[in-house]
Amino acid sequence: MTAVWVRGGMIVTASDVFAGDVWIEDGVIRQVGVVRPSGEAHVIDATGMYVMPGAIDEHTHMGMPFNGTVSADWDTETIAAAIGGTTTIVDFAIQRRGGTLVEAIETWRNKADGRTAIDYGLHVAITDPRPEVIAEIPEAVKRGVTTVKVFMAYKGEMMVDDTALFQTLLAAREAGALVMVHAENGDAVVLLQDLLYEANKRAPRYHAESRPLEVEAEATRRAIALAKLADAPLFIVHVTGREPMEEIRRARHRGQRVYGETCPQYLLLDESYLALPGFEGAKYVCSPPLRHASHQEALWTALAEGVLQTIGTDHCSFNFREQKHMGRDDFRKIPNGLNGIENWVQLIYTYGVCQGRISLSRMVDLISTQPAKLMGLYPRKGTLAVGADADLLVYDPSGSATITAQTQHQNSDYNAYEGFVVQGKPQWVLLRGNVIVQEGAYVGSLRDGEFVPCRPYSAAYGEKAPFESRTLQAELVDA
Ligand code: URP
Ligand code: ZN
Ligand code: ZN
Repeated sequence: MTAVWVRGGMIVTASDVFAGDVWIEDGVIRQVGVVRPSGEAHVIDATGMYVMPGAIDEHTHMGMPFNGTVSADWDTETIAAAIGGTTTIVDFAIQRRGGTLVEAIETWRNKADGRTAIDYGLHVAITDPRPEVIAEIPEAVKRGVTTVKVFMAYKGEMMVDDTALFQTLLAAREAGALVMVHAENGDAVVLLQDLLYEANKRAPRYHAESRPLEVEAEATRRAIALAKLADAPLFIVHVTGREPMEEIRRARHRGQRVYGETCPQYLLLDESYLALPGFEGAKYVCSPPLRHASHQEALWTALAEGVLQTIGTDHCSFNFREQKHMGRDDFRKIPNGLNGIENWVQLIYTYGVCQGRISLSRMVDLISTQPAKLMGLYPRKGTLAVGADADLLVYDPSGSATITAQTQHQNSDYNAYEGFVVQGKPQWVLLRGNVIVQEGAYVGSLRDGEFVPCRPYSAAYGEKAPFESRTLQAELVDA
């Protein structure tokens, strides 16, 4: 394979911003900074652009069954992801009721292999927590699936009770896995949903009323308490507002290993979208729901201060005309989820970095380095270092554009960020040294993406095999 020389850009990592080049051979970064060419190379001129590690979205749902329908699939959505600057996703393999974790992992690998434009890892979600299923967690870890998801909501579908959450935390701790939770009190949600429905309150905006912030804060508190009892690390996904975020801050302050993620929709959209005229609000139905706009600054500050560690999209895309319309007369039947993977990097750059809420390095940390570390992909992914996979995003900060469904690549008849103005765009995207986006256009293939096994949390975080005491090179040799 010819070498690739990315020249003249501004290199951005989670810790540094400096002018320099990147030299790539055999899909791996060989030199960073002042490059000494060691032969012929394909040159990419990055003058005036930022060169950063490709974004890693640790929270996607590709081709996921939900409420009797299925979210948009791997092929279109991973191409859209690549165009938007994402080079790895970590998707949720959902256990079938009556099925096993190994079956879920195999099912998801079959969905993805040969149909993904970018690399992917998997989490596994336990929905039917029989003892033999909990006992499978070490096997999932052996297969490179080291994050286990528990839904505390979606009663009757994916929700499990506190016994199962606690058992999962205990088993995951032993196996070196990290438990992720969707924190909402699913029992309270169903009661509230039914009360609203009986009172003839059936429009999309009642989705938010059935899932108030306290429902999320309570579940967050409970999950943190159970993790403390189990002495297990915990990752809380899609944090929407101040109160649940403060639970995480308090836990971290006590020294508990609790991590938190928020999503672009909670930073940039708000509950007023659910009350749009007609049935338009259905486009914005996701769980937990969008909150009052006053929570947004608190989330940005939590990202800047390190209370929250990552931004993930929770990309779970349904089209409006057929799929969202399933809940035309009953908000409980609207499939939950929003799109966002095509534009999230531009949105975070524009509304985070350009508006002074986070630094450029912190953006890279939040959308690439921290996800890689928490998912057990670091240092193979999530940084620009010698020996790492050459997953690069060359971002041109000049120019602006308006997001519209008319020009998007996501397979949906709407874009949740329609009308948002964004600054700059991904110009080049490289996946293990292969150019998959060239001057903004997708030039890759659906055979480019590969499954990447994740390392156990315990190893990545030095619990059993101290990472800090070893050199990056030694880690890479092991990987
Ligand atoms: O509304 C959402 N977030 N849909 C995807 C499933 C989940 O809860 O993450
Ligand atoms: Zn969720
Ligand atoms: Zn999700």
